[in-house]
Amino acid sequence: MKPSSVLLLLQLCCLQVAVLVSRSTCRLPETLVQETHHRLRDLGGSIPNHCKTQTDQIHFPESILSHGARRLPQCRWTSMLVYGALQGAQLVFDDYVVPEGEGGVSWDSQNLDLYQNVQYRLVEDHPCLNNTEASAALAPYFSNVTALIAQQDSAACGWQVLRTDLLWVLKSTLHNRRECFNRTKAQ
Ligand SMILES: *[C@@H]1O[C@H](CO)[C@@H](O)[C@H](O)[C@H]1NC(C)=O
Ligand SMILES: *[C@@H]1O[C@H](CO)[C@@H](O)[C@H](O)[C@H]1NC(C)=O
Ligand SMILES: *[C@@H]1O[C@H](CO)[C@@H](O)[C@H](O)[C@H]1NC(C)=O
Repeated sequence: MKPSSVLLLLQLCCLQVAVLVSRSTCRLPETLVQETHHRLRDLGGSIPNHCKTQTDQIHFPESILSHGARRLPQCRWTSMLVYGALQGAQLVFDDYVVPEGEGGVSWDSQNLDLYQNVQYRLVEDHPCLNNTEASAALAPYFSNVTALIAQQDSAACGWQVLRTDLLWVLKSTLHNRRECFNRTKAQ
């Protein structure tokens, strides 16, 4: 074998190792997650009182944040969970129209666009995160929230619950698991 082909082989092998490593350590960029949090916060509104009977049955599984998957490293699980929550929300946004006007949510449509753009960027730009397990853990929650959103008379309540819970996930992970995000400034 010529020295040059040995070199090529070595390069190929290392490239693959590099790809594997980046796959397994893929982290969400802190600045973008922060921006997502701020955009969502700026949509405003809270869960109206009259929603109580409808939303009483929906419980975001808060405990999975800390003891979701003990066999996975904490940061890996945190990344998966944040990604899974945003991806789940993305699917809801894809399938349902946010109700506006009377009986709807009072979100400013420009703010909503800004939020959806940044959420979309986070989800689409990080396919390296295999969040099968986090999605499974969040599935009962999304199924309940979607059931509310799917019905006209409870849709606004459902959207506000979704916003409140997503905000909580982003806020508590940014606060308590800051080290789990990619804090390298983009070039
Ligand atoms: C963190 O972000 C930088 C800059 O965008 C990127 O080059 C790097 O691969 C990222 N690291 C991880 C572990 O995702
Ligand atoms: C989903 O709704 C069912 C039936 O109302 C309830 O028993 C369950 O606790 C809810 N689960 C979540 C995660 O909200
Ligand atoms: C993603 O993770 C699940 C559960 O750990 C595993 O079964 C599946 O094969 C993985 N998929 C990919 C594409 O790596």
